[in-house]
Amino acid sequence: MIALSSDHAGYPLKEAIKEYFVENGIEFEDCGAYSTDSVDYPYQAKKACDLVVSGKCDKAILCCGTGIGISMAANKVKGIRAACCSDYFSAKFTRLHNDANALCLGARVIGVGAAIELVDVFINTEFEGGRHQRRVDQITEIENM
Ligand code: RB5
Repeated sequence: MIALSSDHAGYPLKEAIKEYFVENGIEFEDCGAYSTDSVDYPYQAKKACDLVVSGKCDKAILCCGTGIGISMAANKVKGIRAACCSDYFSAKFTRLHNDANALCLGARVIGVGAAIELVDVFINTEFEGGRHQRRVDQITEIENM
C-alpha cells in the first residue's frame, strides 16, 4: 500500500500518479490535496508519513511544487527517510542504498512521464542491505539523539 499526498502545486502530478496506480492495480491511500485550492505542504507530508510509520503503508509518494518543501517536512517525521528526486538513478539508488521510504517529486520540475518512471523504480526496488544497513542505522541513531 502506497500513501500518496500533495499540496495544491503537486495536486496535478499526484492525480496522474493516482491514475497510474489505478491502471496498474497498485493499492494506495490518497491523503489529498483534493483540488488546486491552496493547502500547506508540511501537514500534507505528515499525513502520508504517519501512514508509513504506523505500518499501514509501505512507502509514501509526496508531491509539491519543487518536491523540496514536502521532503523537508517528511524528514522531520521519525522513521521517515525521504528523498527528493528528479532523475531515475537517484530514485533507484535511494532505495538500494538509503532504504528511502518516501519519494518526493516536484510537479513544477519534472513532467508526468518522467515522474511515473521514478515512482515505478522507487516502489519496485528492494533495499540492498549489507554495508548500507549500518549507514541507515546511523541515520536512525542521529534521529534519536
Ligand atoms: C507552493 O507554492 C510551493 O511553495 C510548494 O509547493 C513547494 O514547492 C515548496 O517547497
